[in-house]
Amino acid sequence: MPLPDDFLYELKVRSDITDIASSYVTLKRRGRNLVGLCPFHSEKTPSFNIYPENGSFYCFGCGAGGDVITFIRKIENLDYIDAVKLLAQRAGMEMPESSYDNSLSELRRRIFEANREAGRFYYSTLYTSEGREGLEYLRGRGLSERTIKHFGLGFSPDKRFALVDHLKSKGFKPQELVAANLVYQNKNGGISDRFYNRVMFPIIDLRGNVIAFGGRIMTDQKPKYLNTSDTPVFKKSTNLFALNFAKGGGRSLILCEGYMDVIALHQAGFTSAIATLGTALTREQAMLMKRYADTVYICYDSDEAGQKAAQRAIELLRNAGVDIRVISVPGAKDPDEFIRENGDKGRERFEQLLEKSGNDIEYRIQKIKQKYILTEQSQIVAYLTDCSQLLSELENPIEAEVYAGKLSDETGVSKEAVLRQINGYRKKKVRERTKKQFRDIQTVVSGRDDRVNSEKAANLRAARAEEALIAYIINNPDEAAETVKLLPPEKLVTSFNRRVYGIITERALNGRDIMPADISGEFTVEENGKIAGILASLGGNINSAAARDDCIRVILAESEKITAESAASADINDIEKYLEKLKQQKK
Ligand code: CTP
Ligand code: MN
Repeated sequence: MPLPDDFLYELKVRSDITDIASSYVTLKRRGRNLVGLCPFHSEKTPSFNIYPENGSFYCFGCGAGGDVITFIRKIENLDYIDAVKLLAQRAGMEMPESSYDNSLSELRRRIFEANREAGRFYYSTLYTSEGREGLEYLRGRGLSERTIKHFGLGFSPDKRFALVDHLKSKGFKPQELVAANLVYQNKNGGISDRFYNRVMFPIIDLRGNVIAFGGRIMTDQKPKYLNTSDTPVFKKSTNLFALNFAKGGGRSLILCEGYMDVIALHQAGFTSAIATLGTALTREQAMLMKRYADTVYICYDSDEAGQKAAQRAIELLRNAGVDIRVISVPGAKDPDEFIRENGDKGRERFEQLLEKSGNDIEYRIQKIKQKYILTEQSQIVAYLTDCSQLLSELENPIEAEVYAGKLSDETGVSKEAVLRQINGYRKKKVRERTKKQFRDIQTVVSGRDDRVNSEKAANLRAARAEEALIAYIINNPDEAAETVKLLPPEKLVTSFNRRVYGIITERALNGRDIMPADISGEFTVEENGKIAGILASLGGNINSAAARDDCIRVILAESEKITAESAASADINDIEKYLEKLKQQKK
């Protein structure tokens, strides 16, 4: 059910894209537009643009773009209706009734409800005879009643239908529970509990919805944890455990590996601790952290796997542009054990670790150093080479200079020589980056990489003219009637552009608005990105009727060519048929 125009109009007026985007991205004014570092990919120079004039955004680096609703869809990972709801809420508007019967949105709502009810069930089980073992386990790990309640920890009974029966009695349908991944579907079509005999950790998103669960077995059996698989409301790779609690603190976060580490740290007063959900850190999670933090303390397990994972996390977080500090917990395998082993002094000692934590460059130099024996001449050279490569990544030349000084003191090689090597690597990197940028632009221009309009590369001349014309109509909706007379939609060569042109001209003819926010409901996130890209790169280029007529001429000519070509191939077919007929007649 599409949303009514007047509702969307008011929502658009009340949801200024500049206001909304600036709560996620730091923006600077550049002429009529605003620019900033793109929240959808990692970059060091800003290519993310906001165009207040038409209410759109576009990133020239990754091609993300669209109106304010598309922005919210992407950044909050929501579907169209839920993004509209979020904006409506923010703007203090009621959602129109009809829009609720969106089936995906309805399923998502039911999954949220089922999860919440499951969370309540697991929590209350702790305080029954069936859950006593779970409660004892959690207490045995040093958790207070208050912590258990705060995190909503719970227990899944050692039965196959405990949750199924409970949720069915609350009116949930089997297919909703399957979609929520709370139950397994058996071969015979029945359902049974996915989690049993495990202590339960609910995973809560930034709006307070229960989106998933982790369940820990209380013995040494495997798997230690069982987690909700991806569902329509949950994606492991884009969420972080406890970020709902951690985001409100200062602009720093402590990144750990495990649920228990996070909970132990929160209990000890470090409420900015968060963790990934049983997978290695992803780029999306790093970008998400960047939204809430300027500094991230990485506090991974001290075993080899933990240290490897830390290296990877450093790489991703550095690309996301946060300051990184690295903590290693001495004499313990993870932060949870560290806090516990230090008893009353746990809090104080962890505080000291935070204070004296080194930044990631120091940490990485330490790691490189472990590979070499620095009393040997040849190894010193190799050590300096590795370090110079690392330091050539530093944006700030003063920082590089400081480390060059330290390396010089340590190895006896002159600081100038170290700096020369660093600069050599930096120049090489810049050259490579420039080459890559050039290649990227070439691919965009040639349409080879156009995922939305796959026909562009083969019909470049027509597609470019079509795009220019689309930009022209959006900027000059009054010209739509005249333009359609000269060029009816079916004449457009590429089908994506034909569809866009058809939609905007028809809307314009009916007096409806065609700014990005008005039409975004008709397109997918990627398609909206493409349209925003067309506007961003061609928006002001053609603004006269003469330029428009040139575009039309090109499109008509290209369209003719194609008709002629297909006519030619049809002719060949006809000839073949004719020859076939002749043969038949001879026989
Ligand atoms: N994990 C998982 N599945 C497993 C093992 C681990 O999803 N089979 C994830 C969980 O999110 C876990 C994290 O990886 O919290 C870290 O694993 P680990 O260090 O083994 O667990 P801890 O959180 O330290 O749990 P505990 O202290 O209870 O052993
Ligand atoms: Mn642990």
